[in-house]
Amino acid sequence: MKGLVIANWKMNASLEAVRVFAEKWQHLPALTNVDTVICPPGPYLQAVKSAMAVELGAQDASAHVAGAYTGEVSAEMLRELGCQWAIVGHSERRAYHGESSRAVAEKAMAVMSAGLCPVVCVGETLVDRDQGRHEEVVAEQLKASIAGVSPEPLVVAYEPVWAIGTGVTATAEQADGMHGVIRACLNQVYGSESFGIRVIYGGSVKPENAGELFVCENIDGALVGGASLEAESFWKIAQAANAGSQ
Ligand code: 13P
Repeated sequence: MKGLVIANWKMNASLEAVRVFAEKWQHLPALTNVDTVICPPGPYLQAVKSAMAVELGAQDASAHVAGAYTGEVSAEMLRELGCQWAIVGHSERRAYHGESSRAVAEKAMAVMSAGLCPVVCVGETLVDRDQGRHEEVVAEQLKASIAGVSPEPLVVAYEPVWAIGTGVTATAEQADGMHGVIRACLNQVYGSESFGIRVIYGGSVKPENAGELFVCENIDGALVGGASLEAESFWKIAQAANAGSQ
């Protein structure tokens, strides 16, 4: 399966940072066996698109098509700006904006209807893991977050909450194990149609640990936060995915 590496810049960067990133990016060799996506904050989508040869994604999208939803951005608007991808259900949105798995599934459907690929995020908290409930929690969250969502095009991102922005990465064994649980779940829901769904890992992915993650059988790529803000660091992660999926 072709690798997939997605940069989630969260609420970081600036127009100047986009310019600096693009300047460095254009001198780095192109990678053919990995899809490389950047999800900048909405106001910088156009700047990223015009400055560099990467695929473009949004960090969120509305479940609604249009109307009186102040502050929301529809998937169709994102498509018009050149987005082919949209992250939905990131744990930061679930935690700070009270998004339920039901709402995440609605967003995923809206994204798909506009012709974009949803990247549905799931992940357990440290308490869930300490209680030994992590597999059950992620399986339940996943099933609810893809209820009614078709399998094509779809990406699932496993991001354990305790590994996000903490510098603590899940070990390759922990990540691969959970990806196996996610694959089994997808298989239960979609049968053989699940085979094309890429399952990517996120949580303190860096150039130093990317290689060991991408050799794992069930890991098809990464959703990268902090280490995606600098061009060379993100490129090195993409390069590791490029090598891991050959
Ligand atoms: P970090 O790579 O900064 O841990 O963030 C992961 C993440 O949340 C990507 O969506």
